[in-house]
Amino acid sequence: MAARHSALASLVLLACRQNGQSALHPGGPAAERIADLWWIMLVVASVVFLLVFVVLVRAFTHKGFRAAPRTASDDRTPTMWVLAGGVALPAVVLTPLFVFSLSTFAGLTPRDDTGALDLVVIGKQWWWDVQYHGEKPQDRLRTANEIRIPVGRPIRIQLRSPDVIHSFWVPGLQGKVDLVPGKVNTIWIQADSVGIYRGECAEYCGLQHARMQFRVIAQRPEEFARWVEENRRPAATVSDSAAMAGQAVFLSSGCAFCHTVRGTPARGVVGPDLTHLASRQTLAAGTLPNTRGHLAGWVGNPQAIKPGNKMPRIPLRPEELHALLAYLGTLR
Ligand code: CUA
Repeated sequence: MAARHSALASLVLLACRQNGQSALHPGGPAAERIADLWWIMLVVASVVFLLVFVVLVRAFTHKGFRAAPRTASDDRTPTMWVLAGGVALPAVVLTPLFVFSLSTFAGLTPRDDTGALDLVVIGKQWWWDVQYHGEKPQDRLRTANEIRIPVGRPIRIQLRSPDVIHSFWVPGLQGKVDLVPGKVNTIWIQADSVGIYRGECAEYCGLQHARMQFRVIAQRPEEFARWVEENRRPAATVSDSAAMAGQAVFLSSGCAFCHTVRGTPARGVVGPDLTHLASRQTLAAGTLPNTRGHLAGWVGNPQAIKPGNKMPRIPLRPEELHALLAYLGTLR
């Protein structure tokens, strides 16, 4: 029984560490500064809380609390308490915290942006369009809900929104920055160790706000370069019969109006670019793991899984759905 409990506890701990969505487990320089500020504020606030508590207890237990005759010094005491506790103490406590906060904010942007990687992330109801803008048009690549970055390199992300206000928040790497329609905001992130950092939309943006998640996957630079190389390529030509039938379903059933698969006539831009869908870890902005079964459920009835999202339910015969899944599985 004890063994089972400790196994469960270590599983829970492992899950906590793996989800990588805590501002108190910083994975980069900006998040470290924010975590430092948080700990200092916690310590200072705890000391102030204890102080107030002690004074409160003393006030209730002091004999003056029970109706004792007033003296001249009793009249001076309240003024002294107001000045000391209401003016001097806040000034002494809040001024250094204010200065420290300002220096923390200033440190959230790197001083030196040489070698920075530029990305554009567009928040949409309710998913993240991720674009890598290379020097040449053929260097560009587009993915969704997953941001691959090389470790140790500053990443400058332009944040945009075409619909409502969203907020980009990867607690393990940086604070929040809003995506505001008609405006371009910038956020810097940097991961110092390889890992997956979970992010969330942090501004209520409609029915499926809670299912607007993403992942920042920090890789070694050579692995990242390989990923970029593979993901710049158009989709591989399909050769087996099931996948070919699935591609025909994809191109004729309406999927292609909303989704792009580079290298095919599918050029829609309403939904995520699916050119390398099968290489992604999740579906529907972190709602489901990317497995064939979940993909079948999602394509079969996206409105049952994420009500209100823009993907309609397209009636497909079972054999069409199977063929479509075979095709989507080839988009590695
Ligand atoms: Cu987007 Cu909340």
